[in-house]
Amino acid sequence: MSIRIAPSILSADFAALGEEIRKVEEAGAHLIHVDVMDGHFVPNITIGPPVVKSIRKTTKLPLDVHLMISDPDKYIPAFVDAGADMLTVHAEATIHLDRTLNFIRSQNIGAGVSINPATPVRNVEHAVALADMLLIMTVNPGFGGQTFIPYTVEKIRQARQLIENRNYRCVIEVDGGIDTDTVPDVVRAGAEVLVAGSAIFHSPEPARKVREMLEIAASVGYHHGYV
Ligand code: DX5
Ligand code: ZN
Repeated sequence: MSIRIAPSILSADFAALGEEIRKVEEAGAHLIHVDVMDGHFVPNITIGPPVVKSIRKTTKLPLDVHLMISDPDKYIPAFVDAGADMLTVHAEATIHLDRTLNFIRSQNIGAGVSINPATPVRNVEHAVALADMLLIMTVNPGFGGQTFIPYTVEKIRQARQLIENRNYRCVIEVDGGIDTDTVPDVVRAGAEVLVAGSAIFHSPEPARKVREMLEIAASVGYHHGYV
């Protein structure tokens, strides 16, 4: 299983986004993670569809758009038009998660579902059948630069087991506090897509950090749940 790195531009220099993205793209990043916050579902406000549209023009990498917003259904068409390749909604933010995931799929882009640290994996046991990606938050969403919450590793293991037992094609993404020190634990537990914001963009050499994370992930490997 190959590990993919998704730099989160939340910690990048917003006045130089094109250049920041180019650096990580050249270093081998696989996706660009875009954090959308509404000041309601999470206590912070970031960016919306116009910025996604501009980023779309600067990179060929898939845009992995993480919607930390209430009532996401309302905004899905705008993000699809802006060029998102993957839209992830929070299970806690939508009442009809099944309908929301089906709606995203009907737009011919990837559909992701995310759960906060305090939300058990079993809450999305059935919904993951409809999802291309399950995003397990490893911090409480809202801000970059927070400390990884250790108990989330057990949730990654549970999710991996669920997905393998039922033969789902859903990939597991982790987000929050991911750096070279936490990569081994999440990869061993079964995470495949690693989001990292401050670790990459606050480092003096973002490209080097991407390569380091990939090397560490490759050296750890994933042992099919027997960890
Ligand atoms: C947190 C966001 C993350 C954030 C991660 O709410 O969803 O994507 O950018 O930042 P780091 O990697 O700094 O924890
Ligand atoms: Zn995110």
